Amino acid sequence: MIERTFDEYRRLFEEHLMDFIPDIDQKSITLYDSMRYSLTAGGKRIRPVLLMAACEFCGGKAEEALPYACAIEYIHTYSLIHDDMPCMDDDELRRGVPTNHMVYGDAVATLAGDGLQSAAYEAMQRDMLLYFDNFDALKSRIRAAYEIVKGAGVTGMVAGQIADVEAENKRCSKELLDYIHITKTADMIIGAVRAGARLGSCSDEELENLTVYAENLGLAFQVCDDILDVEGDQDLLGKETGHDEANSKATYPALYGLDESKKKLRELTDAAKEALAEYYDNAELFVSLAEMLASRVY
Ligand code: IPE
Ligand code: IPE
Ligand code: MG
Ligand code: MG
Ligand code: MG
Repeated sequence: MIERTFDEYRRLFEEHLMDFIPDIDQKSITLYDSMRYSLTAGGKRIRPVLLMAACEFCGGKAEEALPYACAIEYIHTYSLIHDDMPCMDDDELRRGVPTNHMVYGDAVATLAGDGLQSAAYEAMQRDMLLYFDNFDALKSRIRAAYEIVKGAGVTGMVAGQIADVEAENKRCSKELLDYIHITKTADMIIGAVRAGARLGSCSDEELENLTVYAENLGLAFQVCDDILDVEGDQDLLGKETGHDEANSKATYPALYGLDESKKKLRELTDAAKEALAEYYDNAELFVSLAEMLASRVY
């Protein structure tokens, strides 16, 4: 049962954000500094909050989900550091501060991303080691980690990122655009929600309904991001706008125009809310989060 607000989950998460970064030898301390720089710069923390809320929705405890909530934020932050590098989107501003490579250089930024990724796996694996005597708890943790890794991996976020890069300066079909958006963005959001559900020992029905919610929310999230790149406020977003067009990216506004993109965002947001309608007020956090994300555009 969800008993906290989005902000309460976010505060709990941020208190523990650095807990699962291992102690790094002083000789490699730049690695720690660069990882911390991007992790603590801010960010909406959508994925960890979704993970913890899904865990409690299904009957688990948010505190027990912290290693997994941190893991998904570490992976997400690594994806942003690499996404911003000159060889990818070449951005100079992220989370309201200069991008990692602008401060530390390309070599350190690459390694900060690598470090965050391995810290994520380490956080989850170390947690699993504590549950060898409790097979049910161990099983749900293995399942949760699998959801996260799958969403982040070579059929999820990384697959989407390569399709995104290869689609630059080309004509992109609507089918390819959806593939890019679903893999690069929705799959991590689906992974967050399903991992949380697994940690909360979800029923089959809860898992199914939460998955439909996350699929719609995940695509809506990237459609919204595309729209904001065209007409959002750089200061509010904390990242540069207008870069998608400058990089000839495959986006919803580029393929469908702004009006149609906004219609699509509305439809996806409504479908996300509808997926959890049977839970009434118990799913309020998920419903209001979908609405809050869409309202960034309207
Ligand atoms: C940005 O993600 C990358 C996309 C998938 C669109 P967020 O918009 O969640 O970025 P932060 O974490 O709030 O900085
Ligand atoms: C990035 O999509 C998705 C990731 C996996 C990082 P974008 O390239 O549109 O994200 P922003 O706009 O730079 O945050
Ligand atoms: Mg990109
Ligand atoms: Mg980008
Ligand atoms: Mg974008």
